[in-house]
Amino acid sequence: MQDKWTDGEAYEMFVGRWSRRVGEQFLSWLNPPKHASWLDLGCGTGALTAQILKHCNPRSVIGVEPSEGFLLLARDQVGDKRAAFRQGDGENIPVADGEVDIAVSGLVLNFIPDQQNAVNELARSVSEGGTVAAYVWDYAGHAQFIRYFWDAAIELDSSAREKHEGVRFPSCRPEPLRTLFVAAGLHDVVTEAIDIPTPFTNFDDYWLPFLSGIGPAPGYCASLDETARNSIKDNLKITLPTDEDGMILLAARAWAVRGTR
Ligand SMILES: C[S@@+](CC[C@H](N)C(=O)[O-])C[C@H]1O[C@@H](n2cnc3c(N)ncnc32)[C@H](O)[C@@H]1O
Repeated sequence: MQDKWTDGEAYEMFVGRWSRRVGEQFLSWLNPPKHASWLDLGCGTGALTAQILKHCNPRSVIGVEPSEGFLLLARDQVGDKRAAFRQGDGENIPVADGEVDIAVSGLVLNFIPDQQNAVNELARSVSEGGTVAAYVWDYAGHAQFIRYFWDAAIELDSSAREKHEGVRFPSCRPEPLRTLFVAAGLHDVVTEAIDIPTPFTNFDDYWLPFLSGIGPAPGYCASLDETARNSIKDNLKITLPTDEDGMILLAARAWAVRGTR
């Protein structure tokens, strides 16, 4: 199944709104110098780029992203002359050797077929002494809004197990991330858990983004017939921890990793 990254507005409702929150904490953990030049690989709709501009006083940010649809929204939403966007791929990043001081990537590495090549490319992009850092969802652990969906899907269809992102993306754990960074020649490599609240105002706020087809879980959901989709929906209505006022209070963990060139 090919993951679909086309409709930026739909992505914002599904993950962009949470990536902004993780991004803010991630940047605070990085504690970067001001006036640095940045690369944001797989910038999508600009969630992390926007946080860099807001919190880090950068000299410049280059957002690199393969999806035209996402780039359109990123350009439209970010609107800051320090930011520039280039269409490109993580395995052949369209920047010169050592072009930036800091290269980051939010929720992207696991989607790149050759992840080692991508981390090598990030390392190539930064100057000597520069920083490479990334975060990915803790799919197999505490990315609760995604896990609840897959747990419900597997209960009804055991073949969904191989599509579960916790199974598909074994690198989204601290040790594999560390190994990728060390193998790229980076030093002082450390990992960190970043936990954010992901409150959903009601069931629709949780469920409707799964109908968009954007990203792995919505892609799987869109591939089902209506009866199967409704079975997952009914299961989730029972399993999701829902307050009397309809609020669904979940949390999500991302694993962050950083290293120095
Ligand atoms: C979950 S989204 C993350 C977007 C954004 N960084 C954020 O934090 O909201 C995954 C992104 O990875 C991008 N992507 C997928 N394959 C890629 C590749 N080979 N190289 C670079 N980016 C890729 C997708 O187009 C999508 O924008």
